[in-house]
Amino acid sequence: MKKLLDILSEELKKAFKDAGYDDGRITVTVSNRPDLCEYQCNGAMALSKEAHKAPFMIAEEVVARLKGSEYFSKAECVKPGFINLNISDDYLASYLAGEASAEKFGFEAKDMKKVVVDYGGPNVAKPLHIGHLRAAIIGESVKRISAYTGNDTLGDIHMGDWGLQMGLIIAGMEDRGMDHMPDLDELSEIYPAASEKSKEDEAFREKAMDITFELQHGNEEYLKIWRHIMDISVADLKQNYDRLNVSFDIWKGEADADPYIAPMVESMKKEGYAYESQGALVVDVSEPTDAKEIPPCMILKSDGASLYTTTDLATLVQREEDYKPDAVIYVVDKRQELHFVQVFRAAKKCGIVPEKTELSFLGFGTMNGKDGKPFKTRSGGVMRLETLLEEVYEKCLERMKENGTEMPEAELKDTAGKIALAAIKYGDLSNEARKDYIFDIDKFTSFEGNTGPYILYTMVRIKSILRKYKETGGETDGLKLLPPSNPAEKALMMNLTGFVPMIEGAWKDLAPHRICAYIYQVANDFNKFYHETKIITEEDKAKQESWIALITLTLGILETSVDLLGFEAPGFM
Ligand code: ARG
Repeated sequence: MKKLLDILSEELKKAFKDAGYDDGRITVTVSNRPDLCEYQCNGAMALSKEAHKAPFMIAEEVVARLKGSEYFSKAECVKPGFINLNISDDYLASYLAGEASAEKFGFEAKDMKKVVVDYGGPNVAKPLHIGHLRAAIIGESVKRISAYTGNDTLGDIHMGDWGLQMGLIIAGMEDRGMDHMPDLDELSEIYPAASEKSKEDEAFREKAMDITFELQHGNEEYLKIWRHIMDISVADLKQNYDRLNVSFDIWKGEADADPYIAPMVESMKKEGYAYESQGALVVDVSEPTDAKEIPPCMILKSDGASLYTTTDLATLVQREEDYKPDAVIYVVDKRQELHFVQVFRAAKKCGIVPEKTELSFLGFGTMNGKDGKPFKTRSGGVMRLETLLEEVYEKCLERMKENGTEMPEAELKDTAGKIALAAIKYGDLSNEARKDYIFDIDKFTSFEGNTGPYILYTMVRIKSILRKYKETGGETDGLKLLPPSNPAEKALMMNLTGFVPMIEGAWKDLAPHRICAYIYQVANDFNKFYHETKIITEEDKAKQESWIALITLTLGILETSVDLLGFEAPGFM
């Protein structure tokens, strides 16, 4: 379906052309002075110089040709040469009716790609903490937006499962003389203890490093323990991500890249891309245009051990072999940016991925506490994800009870869980990913303002109107959308026409915050309309049916949008 602004722009182009100004740059935009008009076109200003004519005169000639246009109810020129436009109510209604009946509200996929989204990145056997929360929330949303916009999309968790923490755990087990495989509780105790010990005890640290080396070189005994740790950790991770409504198509990790390392290194050497420097193997990745020196990408340390860059490059080899992606998107803490610049350049330079493959880094900022410092527990420790979820959940339960919500206990809990998830995810996603933000539990769980619960509240309100309407015998199929009957209704209708361009922008810029900003506006528009309109008691049936059609579309757009953000609305609140 053609976008409304494109259709309106075409109409203006035609009018300019008829007036003798054939210019491809003419566009119509949403007005930045909604008190004066709904849309505007500034084309006359841009043309004035070349045409040697005052912009106002050009605008007048153009406006004369818009008389009788089916698209506009008003077209007027104002000094010095703006064209102010209002859309015709009839045309708006017919456009929106088309949108309501089209699949995906008229979004048409083009330029579909094979996309891998690399996100999550938990480190196995270490507890999930809030540092991993943003990766999960943003990555899940980006993955859903990618799939919605028609791309063949795979989400890969890319676990950190091959590093020193494994050696530390095994060394810790040996230290304790453990004669059995650890369970989850033991594991969550062994790792931090071993990590602490390695800081003071040099010999212990060396031992852990040796074990890591042996493990990575095929020691069967260690591999057996490693497999066990993976099994119980992955099961636990799945549960945690489930609670976040986050799921992965691929459960691979750094360990899976291991078999690809040796042949990759061989070829890098053979092709002459990798060379020895102070005993280490490196690839130069600096470019003459770099403002800041980009250090060489290290492939192997002097002891032959591989590094974080090595596994990421080898993972690209594996992805190329298995999926041939057109694009790989990494959703990782922005402090890792340099690492990814090196990896991307080395991957292209060494021909690991074709030149045309898009490698993008969506680096996110830190989640801070109210004191502006990285979020901590009350006692100052690193906050575990489960603890955070629990706290937000309790807060939502409290708010529902305050509001006097009455429902069976099980439903109450389920609903509080849904609200909590919306609070956390919307609180995160409504900020531009790159920026740091402050996690404010009171603000995020509020049912008013720019929050997840407010969006859900609006959706629940629409659901309740639709329920009442159906209870009184109302039909919901094949309803006719009429032109708006008041300004609030028109504002809502106009905003609903913006869904498709919004989604296109959110995908192009990997920007879930655009979805948040959009639905906040839609929710505000809806609530204004709702307060001015008595839908259920309206006696004019045609009018009532049109409103039902309008709020059904509103709900549909909100449901799709929150699904793309990774949460959903309950039936009641
Ligand atoms: N495990 C890493 C960390 O906790 C994140 C992994 C990100 N993804 C990647 N392909 N490097 O820092």
